[in-house]
Amino acid sequence: MEPLRVSALRSVDLGVTDVAASAEFYSAIWRLERVASENGSIYLRGTGPAHHILALHEARAPAILKVTFQASDRDTVDALHARASGLGVADLGQPAAVQGPGGGYGFEFGDREGRLLRVVANDETHAESNETADHPTKLSHAVFNSAEVDEATRYYSDVLGFTLSDRTRIMDFIRCNRDHHSIAFAHAAGSTLNHIAYEMPDLESVMRGAGRLRDAGYPIEWGVGRHGPGANVFAYFIGPDDVVIEYTGEVDQVDDDYPTGMPEDWTWPPGRVDRWGVSGPPSKRLHEAQQRVTFAGAK
Ligand SMILES: [Fe+2]
Repeated sequence: MEPLRVSALRSVDLGVTDVAASAEFYSAIWRLERVASENGSIYLRGTGPAHHILALHEARAPAILKVTFQASDRDTVDALHARASGLGVADLGQPAAVQGPGGGYGFEFGDREGRLLRVVANDETHAESNETADHPTKLSHAVFNSAEVDEATRYYSDVLGFTLSDRTRIMDFIRCNRDHHSIAFAHAAGSTLNHIAYEMPDLESVMRGAGRLRDAGYPIEWGVGRHGPGANVFAYFIGPDDVVIEYTGEVDQVDDDYPTGMPEDWTWPPGRVDRWGVSGPPSKRLHEAQQRVTFAGAK
């Protein structure tokens, strides 16, 4: 029997200080596509089937408002809800029709550090495949800073069915499908956003996207390189409102045979920050931005 778990990271709801400016960046430069707007909020899709992968809402200060996970069907939503209820999950809502663009059936709840999460199934999808070189296809992963990484990993495993892929001194990488990780938790003082990664079709697309960002005045803050855990190629940027965003691609596809790595398995020679040994370290600006964006409701 298939384990009970979510099947993907679908979308992030972001509070931004200027919806129009952010939407212009994420469409014209980052190369998502506007798919809906409602009550002043703008929804953007990648080239993959997900109805939207980013929702932009007006806010006084930048914040992550909600993180949505995909479930395969309505029964899975109900089963995940029943399990969450049994585990005494905080702020657990009832499964119901999801309001707003994309719709579907789902429920919301909070994690241990107050991040608002949602599970949804039967949401609208795009049938047409319009994969385009150097356009993001979907969300690849999101990395959350956490003061309690071990507990966070356990919680996402117990409630959402995630599996630990690798644990380093810096992060836990957890998966819910064949992608090596869809979420990671980085050891930090509090529960801020580390970054959001958008999947590109291949390395060439990451490189071309990185060049496009540089042309538009957004320097590469870290990369291009190839990560250790997950082996995905990366280029990091600071987007509007100091939200840290990554173009990534070629993430390892793993299954139940994947040997879970531990910190002693992930040691590199001093000064090396990627597999190739070509990338310098992250910029100071990036380090600072990786702590700046909060989660609405976070403790
Ligand atoms: Fe990443």
